Amino acid sequence: MKTLMAANWKMFKTRREAADCARELETRLEKLPADREAVLFAPFTALAACAEALGPGPRLRLGGQNCYPATEGAFTGEISPAMLLDCGCSHVLVGHSERRAILGESDEFIGKKCAFALNAGLDVTLCIGETLAERDGGMLRPVLDRQLAEALSGVPDDMPAERLCVAYEPVWAIGTGRVAGPAEIIETHALIRAFLRKRFASGKDEMRILYGGSVKPENTAEIISLDNVNGVLVGGASLRAESFGAVALAGLPA
Ligand code: PGA
Repeated sequence: MKTLMAANWKMFKTRREAADCARELETRLEKLPADREAVLFAPFTALAACAEALGPGPRLRLGGQNCYPATEGAFTGEISPAMLLDCGCSHVLVGHSERRAILGESDEFIGKKCAFALNAGLDVTLCIGETLAERDGGMLRPVLDRQLAEALSGVPDDMPAERLCVAYEPVWAIGTGRVAGPAEIIETHALIRAFLRKRFASGKDEMRILYGGSVKPENTAEIISLDNVNGVLVGGASLRAESFGAVALAGLPA
């Protein structure tokens, strides 16, 4: 199983800024070992510019931050998986907590996107995570179980495990500088692994579980060494090539 280092640029960067940063990242990732992969979730408007800057067969794969579950149609403002593929994407992010909280996306809608995007040929990184109130109220497990059950409801058992990653991002750790502690990460990732084993007849032990929430170069090596942590999803610290490059290469001999 390859460790996945993923950058989420959110709503940052013009085409020019994005292309420059992607190009620099690609150079830094020349040292990425064969057992690691890197993906960049760039804004829609910058995807084609990034694909062009990266050239053919880049180490850094591209993904959209969202998609709509239809091939085409009267869905003003939306982007289809086919359009993402056309821009050079191989991945898509689904169910980020900012889309759940700010754009009001439901678990059911996220489930539709997951199934549709996988079927359309994109690899999916599915984000889940609880709020602080849910965690403090003893709701961690029911919330994660509900999010996972709905999101994976249309995913067939024969779907190759490496095509879908679950990114656990506690809402209280996103952009706050507060990282979940090792014990919290181990406990939660074990819950997610147990859910996946039960949900898929084949167990899907090769399905990666990423951690996200205030990941930075200084804490990455420890986080990816924890049980059932198979990579990271990085927001703020992915905006500079130097910083995301250091995350992607964390823990490796200099
Ligand atoms: P952060 O964001 O690294 O800035 O906390 C992570 C995310 O939202 O994916």
